[in-house]
Amino acid sequence: MSLPDAVRSELRALLTHARCPYSRFPVAVIIRDSVGTLFRGVNVESAAFPSGFCAEKAALGAAVTALGSGVAPETVWIATDTRVATPPCGSCRQLLSELAPDAEVVSWAVETDVVRRWTVAELMPDAFDFEVDSSE
Ligand code: THU
Repeated sequence: MSLPDAVRSELRALLTHARCPYSRFPVAVIIRDSVGTLFRGVNVESAAFPSGFCAEKAALGAAVTALGSGVAPETVWIATDTRVATPPCGSCRQLLSELAPDAEVVSWAVETDVVRRWTVAELMPDAFDFEVDSSE
């Protein structure tokens, strides 16, 4: 899925909702599932730094809250106010591999209009899973 104009404008608006007084690095995410439902998230930072969370986690949390763990994300759009399009962090890749294994991740650098795309499998090969056969 490309980056429709309506998604771009909503991502721009969401970037203004990010709570990032410490990093000053706003991130906005919109997840679209297989029937077109949208789930949104922004990063939320805390003065107790590890208590903050990423925009991907907020959006995945919104999706699971709405639909349970049967949610089937197809597209994960990420926006940052940067010159380069940033991939999700390692911790978010783990969650994506469990909750959105078939999704395409599209990252948009708003400053330069650069767009990068990956499958979740490309971002997180050999993800941790309890089902992994320990004899391999
Ligand atoms: N951040 C995200 O929201 N997603 C990522 O994948 C990487 C980092 C946030 C966390 C923190 O609020 C800020 O960006 C700087 O790391």
